[in-house]
Amino acid sequence: MPREVKVAIVGCGGIASAHAERLRKIEGVTLKAFVDIDESRAKSFVERFGGKHYNTVESLLKNESIDAIYVTTPPFARGEEIIAIEKGIATFFEKPVALTMEKAKEILSVVRKSGIINSVGYMWRYLDTSSIAKEEIRKNGPTALVIGQYIDPFWFPPKHWWLYKDKGGGQVVEQSTHVFDLARYLEGDVSWVYAEIDNLIAKNFIYQDMTSEDSSAVVLRFKSKAIGVIVSSCVSQNTFSGTFLRFITREAVVEHFCHAKTLRIYGNNRIQEIRSNVDPYFEEDKVFIEAVRTGDINNIKSDFEDATKTLGVTIAANEAARTGRAISVE
Ligand SMILES: NC(=O)c1ccc[n+]([C@@H]2O[C@H](COP(=O)([O-])OP(=O)(O)OC[C@H]3O[C@@H](n4cnc5c(N)ncnc54)[C@H](O)[C@@H]3O)[C@@H](O)[C@H]2O)c1
Repeated sequence: MPREVKVAIVGCGGIASAHAERLRKIEGVTLKAFVDIDESRAKSFVERFGGKHYNTVESLLKNESIDAIYVTTPPFARGEEIIAIEKGIATFFEKPVALTMEKAKEILSVVRKSGIINSVGYMWRYLDTSSIAKEEIRKNGPTALVIGQYIDPFWFPPKHWWLYKDKGGGQVVEQSTHVFDLARYLEGDVSWVYAEIDNLIAKNFIYQDMTSEDSSAVVLRFKSKAIGVIVSSCVSQNTFSGTFLRFITREAVVEHFCHAKTLRIYGNNRIQEIRSNVDPYFEEDKVFIEAVRTGDINNIKSDFEDATKTLGVTIAANEAARTGRAISVE
């Protein structure tokens, strides 16, 4: 029997449920506690998964001895986990790591100082097709163009935090951040960005008080010199989800379909298609728990420091759209 890892989850919503379902399948994991400002949500998790419920991280730490926390609160609520990090508790953060670079850097300095095991929920990095894509791009490069897309139908109920930019961060910071992160993982860091980001339809036809954007196009220049463009939209209700990254390299075109978990490699007049059976959420949870157990961080594919760079790219895109200028990435 592997050593027990005692876990608490802070923020009992949609993605917390996805992690809890997977964590309970990992041998040796005990779901000890659930924290939510909304007591009914924390209680409903206790009914499903056992353990105790609390309404603050402070009360959790006073009453429980835990090895790891999952921070699955919305972006505007980040930072409350700092007192747990200071105590040396391993932390899994959902993306984006914060709403602003200032908050991300504040948390990052505590993460560095405490030296905790940490991981961030950019789950697509854990697809086996992502590792194959990385190798194919390296082998067939250099890359000239990176073309990305995040199209998802509008599903948000009235007053959902995502609708408000000061709560969720807006489209590129919260939603298509996954595509920006995977582009960084596969092609490397970004030097500067230019962007057009707007709310073209949803504000007029769905919710008038919405402040997050519904459509965007971001041009990126990678440090590798490759040119990129990532387009996103969530306007078309009852249509389809389509997320991909396409790399045009010297010897091959590599197409990585993210939600569809399919990789297509075009080269030498042949098309090779590879499908993934991996559940990337389960993989990232297993890797994080194993790192907590052993102290070995080698299999963690996204840590807080790296994920802060992805936040930097998306914040720079917002700044570019606001000012109408190209913005260099921190
Ligand atoms: N990796 C992914 O595929 C993925 C998918 C969905 C969401 N997410 C991310 O996960 C985070 C949560 O998203 P969600 O869709 O699960 O949100 P949600 O609204 O479903 O759940 C958030 C929960 O946090 C609670 N909460 C809010 N403030 C709190 C606080 N100060 N202390 C404790 N609890 C608090 C809310 O009451 C709610 O129960 C977001 O950062 C989002 O971007 C990631």
